[in-house]
Amino acid sequence: MAERDICLNGTGLTKVFGLRRQQTVAVDHVDFEFHEGEIISIVGESGSGKTTLAKMLLGLVNSTEGEVYFKGVKRDIGSQGKKREYWKNIQAIFQDPFSSYNIFNKIDTVLLDCIHMRGGRKLPGAKKVELMTEACGFVNLKFAEMTNKYPFELSGGQMQRLMIARIFLLKPKILIADEPTSMIDACSRATILEMLLNLRNETGMTLIFITHDIGLAYFISDSVYIMEHGRFVERGSAEDVIMHPREAYTRRLINDVPKIHEEWDLSSVE
Ligand SMILES: Nc1ncnc2c1ncn2[C@@H]1O[C@H](COP(=O)(O)OP(=O)(O)OP(=O)(O)O)[C@@H](O)[C@H]1O
Ligand SMILES: [Mg+2]
Repeated sequence: MAERDICLNGTGLTKVFGLRRQQTVAVDHVDFEFHEGEIISIVGESGSGKTTLAKMLLGLVNSTEGEVYFKGVKRDIGSQGKKREYWKNIQAIFQDPFSSYNIFNKIDTVLLDCIHMRGGRKLPGAKKVELMTEACGFVNLKFAEMTNKYPFELSGGQMQRLMIARIFLLKPKILIADEPTSMIDACSRATILEMLLNLRNETGMTLIFITHDIGLAYFISDSVYIMEHGRFVERGSAEDVIMHPREAYTRRLINDVPKIHEEWDLSSVE
């Protein structure tokens, strides 16, 4: 990956929640470099700080310490306007889709917002409908059935797909996918994964995948970061980290996955 430009990097990034005795160090001085077009997995057990880090990368959680650089330039998201600019480049799909939308916006509004964010406000109405229909088609949703509905009227799987339709319209440089665990069944999960990888192949975006599942990380990633108690305890190519782990923690994560040395069959991803 060294030959590709760095699109996002961070130094000493830290998040401490709470005060004094109640403190939780959720993210503890992490350093990372994510390259253009790279697929990165961040793997760690529950509570290791993955979602907190994702939210820091997006600028949804303020860091206690450390810096984030976008394309080598220190990130400045000091105002709402600058944040909006930044979000043209980086987007996320979260574990709990309900937290990601304003659920009082109808689905057409959610999708229209994406078109507007990409500078399409002045497009003719028919063109906007065409774009939204195409985006829904990409994730096997029917736009005609989506109009006039609210996100909370969708199933978990439909909601996840709607989130990918948003990404299809937004075409960010970087996508963070905080892997859905409870919302959807294994079959929908495999479909979602396939859609994400297709979208990544079409757009060449950097994909940061957050998961408990080190087998999946091996299967899809160029680079893997192993997270334990807020720190990156091991990082490197998927091959190096997973086939030649140095840390006992990484070995433990691997031992939880019985099939790691076998071919990964998408339909059985669990
Ligand atoms: N808003 C918050 N206030 C206080 N503590 C928080 C907050 N958000 C997260 N934490 C704490 O930070 C730690 C890391 O949480 P985080 O959600 O980042 O873990 P995670 O790796 O995403 O876990 P999971 O795999 O279960 O999603 C946990 O101890 C959690 O309790
Ligand atoms: Mg999480």
